[in-house]
Amino acid sequence: MNGRPFVSFVGAGPGDPELVTLKALRRLREADVVIHDRLIPAALLAEAPADAEIIDAGKAPGRHCMGQAQINWLLVDRARRRGRVVRLKGGDPAIFGRLAEEIDAVRAGGVDFEVVPGVTAATAAAARGGISLTARGHASMLVLATGSDHAGRGVAALDWELLARAEATLVFYMPMQGLDSITTALTAMGRDHREPALVVERAGTPDERVVAGRLGDIAARCREACVGAPALLLVGPTVDAASVPLAVRHLTAAQA
Ligand SMILES: C[S@@+](CC[C@H](N)C(=O)[O-])C[C@H]1O[C@@H](n2cnc3c(N)ncnc32)[C@H](O)[C@@H]1O
Repeated sequence: MNGRPFVSFVGAGPGDPELVTLKALRRLREADVVIHDRLIPAALLAEAPADAEIIDAGKAPGRHCMGQAQINWLLVDRARRRGRVVRLKGGDPAIFGRLAEEIDAVRAGGVDFEVVPGVTAATAAAARGGISLTARGHASMLVLATGSDHAGRGVAALDWELLARAEATLVFYMPMQGLDSITTALTAMGRDHREPALVVERAGTPDERVVAGRLGDIAARCREACVGAPALLLVGPTVDAASVPLAVRHLTAAQA
């Protein structure tokens, strides 16, 4: 065993291996064990030492490869037996990443830990589109919401009335299964169906696709373009397609 038991919860960013912190790279290079999610850049695993144990705990939507309880157990077990564990999570570990459950498990096991933040999908999608999520005069709030319930089967139970009237940029994670329901709930509660909306698939990767539209038609546009997970829905005046750089608009026009 190398050193004391320690778990680093590390943000792997949205998919581009260059969108990670120097601290993330350092932790990977010093790891005895890496336990990683499905949505992480594969190139990052090559940063781990050749003798590090690499464990794929990836979960596909609706199909759990490894249960949360098993991951929690592994974190404590490997930290005690091997030393430095890197728990590599897509985007930022603290955003829809089940970080709290894993921290609880590590704490209960008496193992020290740290969190190394990462670039979350929302900021990666905004960056690619040249979008300021809190553009002055357009949005005084940024809401990161989940589009699906805990089990990943239905739409999340959210305060749709509040979301409909918030002077905010709304970003929905995991929106694809319930895209029609989300956009209908927002317009039914009074949000303007002409409000700009974007869906960004695989933000921050070479396969990124952007579909631009309005709240009232974005779901249909995504169906036509066969957009799938992982993707984000962004809604609000800040995401007006006019502000999206030329390359992205060109891609969008081809999709529409
Ligand atoms: C379980 S959440 C994890 C979010 C992650 N912790 C983060 O900060 O980005 C998974 C969801 O994040 C979104 N997501 C993650 N990576 C993405 C990407 N590269 N492009 C678009 N959406 C992404 C999708 O909505 C996906 O279904």
